[in-house]
Amino acid sequence: MEQEAKKNEVLKTLQGEEADNRMLSLISHKLKTPLSIINGYSEAILSQASKENFSPFTSKALEEIHKQGTKLCALVDNLLFFNKINSFTHKDLAYKTINLKELLKTCANDAVTHDEEMATMPSSSTISKSGTFIEIDCSSTLELKADQELVSFMTQELLANAIKFNNKTEKIIKVQCANHGDSISISIRDYGTGIRPQDVEKIFERFHQVDDYFTGQVDGWGLGLTIVKKIMELHGGTISVVSDRGLGSIFTLSFPIAA
Ligand SMILES: Nc1ncnc2c1ncn2[C@@H]1O[C@H](COP(=O)(O)OP(=O)(O)OP(=O)(O)O)[C@@H](O)[C@H]1O
Ligand SMILES: [Mg+2]
Repeated sequence: MEQEAKKNEVLKTLQGEEADNRMLSLISHKLKTPLSIINGYSEAILSQASKENFSPFTSKALEEIHKQGTKLCALVDNLLFFNKINSFTHKDLAYKTINLKELLKTCANDAVTHDEEMATMPSSSTISKSGTFIEIDCSSTLELKADQELVSFMTQELLANAIKFNNKTEKIIKVQCANHGDSISISIRDYGTGIRPQDVEKIFERFHQVDDYFTGQVDGWGLGLTIVKKIMELHGGTISVVSDRGLGSIFTLSFPIAA
């Protein structure tokens, strides 16, 4: 009897989540088209007309419309990606052999530059730009069998968080890889705001953002870590975090090595 009640409770939650996911997917698809049109036109006006023809107010307004439109588009894309990953099973993963150091260097470069321009590499393992330094400690021969696109997504998400939740003028981020024989780990360490013990479990829940004076208003949905957790589960791996408020955090992805 008790078991039956429990089963019904789980079913109710699942049905609720499914309905939520369908609703999210519908909203994001509906938002995508008008947003693309707004962004396309604002971009066209900005690039075609010479800026001298605009009053300073019009120029500023156009730039702001374009900036906010692009931001909103990225938010909707994240929502769509969340829905896509939610429906993934192990069979949807595109496994291949990845050279980890190469992948990490590309992700670090993307994390510090928001344009085509390359970041500087003072040494072959440190990538830096405008006060953000990403040090990579990874053997150049270390290989991982996993879905390359998804590993890149997770690395970029963890690097973005390490930069975002960090109010230091000089942001130092350390990326370390290790082969433990039965697993391969990627750790991303920052010296930013850190997370309180009571918030650590909650940060993996969807739409959860730690909202207080320490981090302030932050961009995003609070979905990045939920997606990372789901991707790690699909790989049969785990994500763990060690954090100290005010001192920083270490997020570790651990992939099993198939026997
Ligand atoms: N490196 C970090 N340092 C301190 N707090 C963090 C760190 N990474 C995540 N958090 C906390 O966990 C919350 C959830 O992170 P998550 O990546 O899921 O969402 P987000 O970055 O706020 O939004 P999104 O990833 O959807 O753009 C964040 O809002 C933040 O409060
Ligand atoms: Mg995030």
